[in-house]
Amino acid sequence: MLKLNLGCGSHTPTSWTNVDYAMGAKLAKLPVFSTINKIFKIVNLDWPDQIVIHDLRQKFPWNDNSVDVLYSSHTLEHLSKRQGNHFLKECHRVLKPNGIIRIVVPDLKTIVDKYIQGEIPAEEFLHELNVSYESSRDGALKSKLAPFIRFPHKCMYDTSALLRIMSEIGFKVASKKGLESEIDDVDIIEQPSRTVDAVIVEGRKLPDDTPKSSETRQSVSVANH
Ligand SMILES: C[S@@+](CC[C@H](N)C(=O)[O-])C[C@H]1O[C@@H](n2cnc3c(N)ncnc32)[C@H](O)[C@@H]1O
Repeated sequence: MLKLNLGCGSHTPTSWTNVDYAMGAKLAKLPVFSTINKIFKIVNLDWPDQIVIHDLRQKFPWNDNSVDVLYSSHTLEHLSKRQGNHFLKECHRVLKPNGIIRIVVPDLKTIVDKYIQGEIPAEEFLHELNVSYESSRDGALKSKLAPFIRFPHKCMYDTSALLRIMSEIGFKVASKKGLESEIDDVDIIEQPSRTVDAVIVEGRKLPDDTPKSSETRQSVSVANH
């Protein structure tokens, strides 16, 4: 069974195929950079060997209808709207009919609500939106390298937006709570801390003969929100 964890970061369960851009993993293979990094601690080079290195903005290296389960946590929001759309269409292409997709992203609505209600100040609001390459903790070298080593958010979603986008691509989707899933080993792939204040949408790829009509879209459920 082929199960992909797209944008895995440091969470790499061995029973899943973990995929990341992993600039750190590539740079770790360069001895000169490795030495410089030991001094300046520019990027995390502590990546497991078995990660599949792939830029998720590009065409996926898997065949049509070949993947059983797709999981992606806190990664889609690091792609622009257009790149994110391409990413989700690639997910649809490689997933088997009736295969499962589960996407977790920060909830734009929750973050905005917390700010509007005065629960978080402006600085924390901006921190949670995570739209800047800058960090006050960075030294001169890290500031210069920030555009290459940071992945700020380039787009954000709320539940209804993600449900609509995914259903238009051809998934039958529903909003879920943390660990509420049809994925057998969701407890292995899902980190509970990543489901707090998050949009979680899970769905299945509709078989080819199912019309992507308004009738199908009406089957979208927001049962848990
Ligand atoms: C915020 S981390 C999320 C890590 C983990 N999934 C989690 O939930 O904690 C986002 C991950 O997406 C990866 N990423 C961002 N853009 C990418 C791209 N274009 N291709 C592949 N991976 C990418 C980053 O390298 C990073 O590991």
